[in-house]
Parts: sequence; C-alpha cells; structure tokens
Amino acid sequence: MSFNLLKGKKGIIFGALDANSIAWKTAETIHAEGGTFVLTNAPIAMRMGQIDELAKKTGSEIVPADATSEEDLDNLVSKSMEILGGKIDFVLHAIGMSVNVRKGRAYVDEKYDFTTKGWDVSALSFHKVMQSLYKADAMNEWGSIVALTYMAAQRTFPDYNDMADNKAYLESVARSFGYFFGKEKKVRVNTISQSPTPTTAGQGVKGFDNFISYADKMSPLGNATAQDCADYTVTLFSDLTRKVTMQNLFHDGGFSNTGVSQEVIDRFSE
Ligand SMILES: NC(=O)c1ccc[n+]([C@@H]2O[C@H](COP(=O)([O-])OP(=O)(O)OC[C@H]3O[C@@H](n4cnc5c(N)ncnc54)[C@H](O)[C@@H]3O)[C@@H](O)[C@H]2O)c1
Repeated sequence: MSFNLLKGKKGIIFGALDANSIAWKTAETIHAEGGTFVLTNAPIAMRMGQIDELAKKTGSEIVPADATSEEDLDNLVSKSMEILGGKIDFVLHAIGMSVNVRKGRAYVDEKYDFTTKGWDVSALSFHKVMQSLYKADAMNEWGSIVALTYMAAQRTFPDYNDMADNKAYLESVARSFGYFFGKEKKVRVNTISQSPTPTTAGQGVKGFDNFISYADKMSPLGNATAQDCADYTVTLFSDLTRKVTMQNLFHDGGFSNTGVSQEVIDRFSE
C-alpha cells in the first residue's frame, strides 16, 4: 500500500547492509512512497553487503562513507546534493556497532579502546552527520532527521553491554542538535526506539533469540518488525509530523509501558 507520502522528497539513508537491515526495508518503503535518496555505508560494508542490489531496485546511487570520518561525511553531503539536484529533506541514521560485544567483553570488563570506537561509530557519528549537514546548510526547511535507538538507554538489559551507554548518548544528541536545527533551520530531529529485530547488528547481542521472544510476549501488540519500523519512519519523514521534534519515540508494540504480561506470568506458574 502506498500513499505517495514522500513524493518529491530527497534524502540520505545510512546503514543498509542486507535485506534484514532496518535501513534496507526503510529504503524500499521510501521508494514506494515516492522518495528518492542516496544510499551510504562504511566502505568495508560495501564488500560484505548487497547494497548494489538495493541501489538497482530503488534507482539510487551509492556514496561510501565511514560515519566516523568528517571528511567522508562532508563529501557524502556535497555529492548527495549534486546527485539529488538540491537540498535534502530526510536523513536516516541506522548505524550501530560495539567492539566489546563483538569481542565478547562483558560490561564489567570493557576494553576502553573498544568502548571509544563503538561510541564513535554508534553515537558520536550522529552528531558528526548532523554537523556536516548543518554547516553545509544542506537541509531543506521542514526536513526530518531520524536515528534508531533501543530502550536499553533507559532501562538495563545486561547483555546490551556498552551499546546501552551509546544509545543514551545518541538520544541526548537528538535533543541537543534538534534544538539548534529547529531554531535555525526548521528541521526536526528524533530517535525511534525500536523493538528487538533480527538483523546482523541485533543478532550480535548474546541470547538474542530468547530475548526477542520474551519481548514479543511482553508487548501487547507484539514486537514491531523491521517493516513496521520502516513504515513509522516514513511518517516522520512526511509532512504529517512537522512539529514532532527532539523526541525519543517508542516503537515497540507497547513493551516499554508494560510491567508484565499474562503470558509471562503464566510461564512462572507452569
Ligand atoms: N536490530 C535490533 O534489535 C535493533 C533494535 C533497536 C535499534 N536498532 C538500531 O537500528 C540501527 C540499524 O541496525 P540494524 O538492526 O538494522 O542492523 P544492521 O547490522 O543491518 O545495520 C547496522 C549498520 O551499521 C553500519 N555501520 C557500522 N559501522 C559503520 C561506520 N563506521 N560507518 C557507517 N556505517 C556503519 C553497518 O555497515 C550496517 O549497515 C542501529 O542503530 C541499531 O542499533 C536495532
């Protein structure tokens, strides 16, 4: 079903690695809604992923950029304006990676070089992306910027490790930059706090399969899928949400406001 919600809108999409990626589904949905965009990912992900296939399918160009490199980001922003023929209406930041998680280091045994690298990729990169857009005056008025986050920023989930701290920082950057982007350029900035979703990044978290079924049983509407997240993101990029900014928006089937569900209680009475 398509509503042409993004007809004529132009954007940049970070983070489509493969068909499971939330950014991949979002790119397909934006395309169906009439939006055009540049796809970007880290140069190393170009070799691992299948981004060419997505570019072909959506008639998009790819501009590689490491989201921790200011130089790459400045180049991405100027090339995107060239390719798209003007300023940008929407940006999706769908980037996350913890070196501690990858190397099996527990939260109480962090290697701080790993911590710093993961923070740079997962959290500070959001500031870098926005600063690059801001300085180049690359966003159209009433444009919209979204980053993806997880509820471990508010509540503790032991195996989410240092990504919890990265997400707390990311959400704070959305509020702080959202102030300046709103005041100066009438651009909105929000984070979507998404249900656990089976993707490459998601499955890196220990015990993910059990956790995803727990979250599903705890959520009155069930877990939000990657496609659900894509649909929600489209609404935030559309003109129907022009005064929503500096928010962390839970998109989790009700998980974040549920103390306990009957299904979970029943498990304990078995
Ligand atoms: N999967 C989940 O359970 C879940 C839940 C809530 C939020 N999120 C968030 O959604 C976002 C997208 O993740 P996903 O689950 O679709 O997984 P994914 O693995 O498909 O996407 C993560 C992306 O980050 C990119 N990336 C890593 N380092 C980069 C760098 N230096 N520069 C540019 N890009 C880089 C990867 O190449 C990849 O495309 C992440 O922010 C993640 O934390 C995921």
